[in-house]
This record gives sequence, structure tokens and C-alpha cells, in this order.
Amino acid sequence: MATSSPCVVISDEEQGYDLDLFCIPKHYASDLERVYIPHGLILDRTERLAREIMREMGGHHIVALCVLKGGYKFFADLLDYIKALNRNSDRSIPMTVDFIRLKSYCNDQSTGEIKVIGGDDLSTLTGKDIIDTGKTMKTLLQLLKQYNPKMVKVASLLVKRTPRSVGYRPDFVGFEVPDKFVVGYALDYNEYFRDLNHICVISETGKEKYKA
Ligand code: HPA
Ligand code: MG
Repeated sequence: MATSSPCVVISDEEQGYDLDLFCIPKHYASDLERVYIPHGLILDRTERLAREIMREMGGHHIVALCVLKGGYKFFADLLDYIKALNRNSDRSIPMTVDFIRLKSYCNDQSTGEIKVIGGDDLSTLTGKDIIDTGKTMKTLLQLLKQYNPKMVKVASLLVKRTPRSVGYRPDFVGFEVPDKFVVGYALDYNEYFRDLNHICVISETGKEKYKA
């Protein structure tokens, strides 16, 4: 396994928080089990990732590539923190952005088939929401090779501990999480729950209600 910087490890025993302790959109009230990673914690961790990325990438021009749709919140917040560092420190990184869309999930299962849409300026990479098995990421990296990038670095907000993992580990990781299906902060279940700030565990009611 490649070396990567340490991350926040969420244990298998972590129960998260009662929904009533946080603000949840009313339309999802019965579709969620628990708040798993509150929005504020996501932002605080992302702020630190921005610093690590700056430290490692300082001096290079980077093309920040967002893997849509699930990565859009993480990408936007991560870039905001990098931009703040660029404004306020001696060193700054020139950045351009690009977007690519990948789709491989139906309900809470991978279909095994990966659809790639978009992306025209592929030379360096960051910004995926979640690395589950790592299969999608491996496929994407293979695809990026065709563009002969000088360097490719991957930042993922979440990495799952799962026996289905192909052993892929990104360069920058926000949280290592148990093998549960999570939603919110742009992560979806059949396109639902992207409009939720916190990362939450979906309930059986939710799974049934939004089943494809
Ligand atoms: N949530 C949402 N999308 C996903 C997940 C998950 O836990 N794993 C892979 N894609
Ligand atoms: Mg999805």
C-alpha cells in the first residue's frame, strides 16, 4: 500500500449523533438514521487537507479535477481553503479547474460499470468524494495516464475500510470510515441526499423510499 498522510479514523463502534441534535431538512427526517460526520467537522478537516496539499504541491501549477457529482462539495470547499492560503501566504499555487463525471452506483451497490463524461484539460488531479473499493479511482487513473500528466495526486474526503477494497489509497484523505453506506455533502443514494450538509447514515425507510 502506498504511503499517505495520516487521516481522521472513524472506528466501527462510532454511533454518530442523534438527528435531533442537528439541523436536517424536513423532507429527509425519516430517511436518515444518524448524523455521522457533522458539516463543521468536514470543513475543519478539509481546511487542514488544503494546507497539506499546498505543502506538497507548492511550486507546481495544478489542474484541479473534480469528480462529479459526489465530489462537488468537497472540491468547492477544498479549493476555497487553498485559495485562502494562496491569498495569505508567501507561496501560492496557480490553479485551473476541470470537471469529470463518473457514475457506477445504483441503489447502494456498484454496478461494476463505470461511465465517464466530460473533462478536457486533464493534466493533474484532485477532488473525489469517496473511495469505496477503489475500483473507480483505479480506472480513472488509468484513463488520466493517456494525457501524460507530470504528476497526479488524489484527494478524497472519505476512504472506506472494506474487504472489497482493491488496495488503492489516495494521497490525501479526510476520514477513514467503516463499511457503511453514507449520504450527504453531495454524496447520494440514487441522486437523493446531495442537498444535505452533514454526512449521515441512511435508514431502511430511506433506502426503500428512494430505491431505483
Ligand atoms: N455513499 C454514496 N456513494 C457511494 C458510497 C457511499 O457510501 N460508496 C460508494 N459510492
Ligand atoms: Mg453516487
